[in-house]
Amino acid sequence: MKQKPLWRSASVYQIYPRSFQDSNGDGVGDIPGIISRLDYLKDLGVEILWLSPVYQSPLDDMGYDVADYMSILPEYGTMEDMDRLIEEAKKRNIRIVMDLVVNHTSDEHKWFIESKKKDSPYHDYYYWREGKKNNTLPPNNWTSMFTGPAWTFDKEAGLWYLHIYGEKQPDLNWHNPKVLEEVEKIITFWLDKGIYGFRCDVINQIYKESLEDGKGHAASARGIEHYLMKEGNHQILRKLYDDIFSKRDAVMIGETFDVDYENGRRFLDEHELDMFFQFDHMGVDKSYNPLVPPRFKPKKFMEIIYGWQENCAWNANYLENHDQRRSITRFGDPKKYWKESGKMLATLNLTLHGTPFIYQGEEIGMLDLPRPETYEEYKDVCCTRIFHVAKGYKIFSKRFIEKFINQLNRDHARTPMQWDDSPNAGFSSTQGQTWLPVNPNFKEINAKKEAEDPDSILAYYKKLLRLRKEEEALIDGTFESIKTKHPVYQYFRKLDGQCLLIVLNFSGKEASLEKDFAGRKGKVLLSNVGRTDFEFVNKLKPFEAAIIKL
Ligand code: NOJ
Repeated sequence: MKQKPLWRSASVYQIYPRSFQDSNGDGVGDIPGIISRLDYLKDLGVEILWLSPVYQSPLDDMGYDVADYMSILPEYGTMEDMDRLIEEAKKRNIRIVMDLVVNHTSDEHKWFIESKKKDSPYHDYYYWREGKKNNTLPPNNWTSMFTGPAWTFDKEAGLWYLHIYGEKQPDLNWHNPKVLEEVEKIITFWLDKGIYGFRCDVINQIYKESLEDGKGHAASARGIEHYLMKEGNHQILRKLYDDIFSKRDAVMIGETFDVDYENGRRFLDEHELDMFFQFDHMGVDKSYNPLVPPRFKPKKFMEIIYGWQENCAWNANYLENHDQRRSITRFGDPKKYWKESGKMLATLNLTLHGTPFIYQGEEIGMLDLPRPETYEEYKDVCCTRIFHVAKGYKIFSKRFIEKFINQLNRDHARTPMQWDDSPNAGFSSTQGQTWLPVNPNFKEINAKKEAEDPDSILAYYKKLLRLRKEEEALIDGTFESIKTKHPVYQYFRKLDGQCLLIVLNFSGKEASLEKDFAGRKGKVLLSNVGRTDFEFVNKLKPFEAAIIKL
């Protein structure tokens, strides 16, 4: 019998290297810092680490702008450090997944610098075009994912180049077979080093089918219909599978904004990806209109999650990552029920069908950063771009825009990991500033304190991760949602006659269970409110969660 691949049984922990652990006191996290925390990760119970980019980069988009795919950013360490990380992790049965960012490079990548010359073999690695109206206007009306025009004029080249993200992130031209060859070299280089695979950045947008004008509104990535999940995109991924992944024990995880069920099915059925991140549930509490205040709608949120559970053969489940605000602040109650709601959300994330992803700090219940005084304090390139565009409309005050972009600010999740209550939360020994401020709540919320408390969020994560290994139904069992009334959500995970019931109260109020379950009994495998007996006559406590074996 073919062995189950690791990515099906393992849980993944995402590390944002800049903010995980600083080993040399410069205020920036690094690879030796990660190595020093491997025992913590082993003890937590995760078996795959996904590292956000550690490559050479000018850091305009914090590493998602790669200047050299085969070297390490000196601030983060050396290639020897990286080799050591791979080896030390392996000793602990932990595998490393790298970030593959190949929709675009940095404008400081040598390919791009060379490509400015028309006769260079690299010219066609990117989208260089003449602009309209005598080269004075962009070649089309597309706008960037980070708002503002998707084209920038380069004086040296005398042409415009395409960037669907920031202007320092020129898009690679995937019509050119050389680009695929280069990417295959990069993939092989890292797999040969012993890594376990890749999380592929915006991988459903890489193939621009045409450069015709887009239809959408300028504020919403106009032009996206020309490059979202096109046939050519599927073919590229299929070719990577045929050439490389069909012959290797490695995982391909796609980051796929706006993916739908149909394309998702193709990604999995045709081996283009092993799993992918959908983003529908992440949009539920956001407002892209400054005049409409954002509001979380748990019912909609759960409907979306159920939809993906029921329509996708294997999900990549997550509630946080480096682009999203902290989940307890968004979906729980950070003031009154910090611990309960943190554990309830953990129960949800780790009992769904698919591979669970935990983002650094989520396991100790880290929260959003209090709002910065002014936008100048933001490091996130996305926020600064939105700020300038919104300001251009001249109808909103600076204060108003700052409030609006705060809900989109990606810095919230990027503050340093809170290890203990010593200065800089044990993240760094710097006497100066850490690259982003440490959240002032670190004396209350930190890993050391929680490691000493059997009732902590951290302790609960450890139990959950262990349980997921022990109860096969949590991995291979089917997912069946049960019709319930908000705020109660219930679903089954079933396998070979085994039945686990998961019960969640998504509110700060007591709530009643579905009547059909009243009187039934089950063994409580895990409860976030200390429940040991489960009889379905009880009311659920605020943000209660339980896993029950029926
Ligand atoms: C998705 C990454 O997660 C995000 O951080 C980045 O800004 C964009 N892709 C562009 O690479």
